[in-house]
Amino acid sequence: MNVLGIESSCDETAASVVTDGRKIRSSVIWSQVAVHAPFGGVVPEIASRNHLQSIVPVVQEALSQAGVTLADIDGLSVTIGPGLIGSLLVGVQFAKALALATGRPLVGVNHLEGHVMAAFLVEDREPPVYPFVALAVSGGHTSLYLLTAPGRIRLLGRTRDDAAGEAFDKAAAVLGLPYPGGVSIDRVSAGRDPGTVRFPRSMISDGSDMSFSGLKTALRRHLELLGHVPGPDEVADIAAAFQEAVVDVLVSKTAAAARDHGVRDVVIAGGVAANRRLRSRMADAMARDRRILHAVPISLCTDNAAMIAGLGHLYLFGELREADVPRGLDMDPFVRRVDDGW
Ligand code: KG4
Ligand code: ZN
Repeated sequence: MNVLGIESSCDETAASVVTDGRKIRSSVIWSQVAVHAPFGGVVPEIASRNHLQSIVPVVQEALSQAGVTLADIDGLSVTIGPGLIGSLLVGVQFAKALALATGRPLVGVNHLEGHVMAAFLVEDREPPVYPFVALAVSGGHTSLYLLTAPGRIRLLGRTRDDAAGEAFDKAAAVLGLPYPGGVSIDRVSAGRDPGTVRFPRSMISDGSDMSFSGLKTALRRHLELLGHVPGPDEVADIAAAFQEAVVDVLVSKTAAAARDHGVRDVVIAGGVAANRRLRSRMADAMARDRRILHAVPISLCTDNAAMIAGLGHLYLFGELREADVPRGLDMDPFVRRVDDGW
């Protein structure tokens, strides 16, 4: 079964063909990063206009790279949220039109569930075993979930203010590092001593909720008190210390949730899960606790449509197909099989 996935929730226009929910035949991502870089963040109106321009070539390229035509597509899957409304609309309307034209079923899926379920798109190793704890950490969200079965997801905790990726992006901006900030902080922090500055670890032993806005303020305050403009070396040390504070919180919250729920498997997903320090510190922590870490491959951490196609397969043709999920064109009855927060 071939599922065509379409993703347009933020600033990436993406399309992908996934076979049988596991095999990625193509994954095309048209990033608008360069378009938004001069503004230091995503401008929603510009994002939706760019999606409009790129959606047709991106979908055509995904079909062509997979070596298929629309006639070979058995079902369609599209992100219906959360995301920027103008951006989402482009993907959803395009997917509806394709479903109408091809007569294939369409499912609307949750972007965050997509990020987490990307952990199942690895062919060369065993997928996660239920129940598992998942940390979904991106520019818009930082949440811990317990997944007990396909489609059964419980929110354990989430950030009460900024997402971790947002904190990275804002920290990079005040440090004068290029957009997108998370990538810059990861890059300049490599090989640095993260201990030269001690930033706060807010709410670290306080349940599964998180907070990153105080950390951002602490960074700004640190820079004010420095009394000079830091050079590249000092910026790199400060960035490494900031990254360490974020990573400490994410690792300790995830480890505590895994312990509390007695799971063997843990998934980390989303754009920030591409962070090398987070991946290595999480791997150490999980090895110490004898748990199995499924870090989503870096190429599938940031927004992509393969995760949307893979999840769509589950709803259209996989274990969830008998469940009460929408078929055809009406998105309204999409069953959010999840507690509040989705
Ligand atoms: O999942 P994603 O592509 O989009 C959202 O759904 O938000 O995540 C984007 C976020 C941005 O904040 C970006 O700075 C961050 O992920 N990010 C990183 C890294 N790569 C991307 N943060 C830290 N280290 C990275 N290597
Ligand atoms: Zn995302």
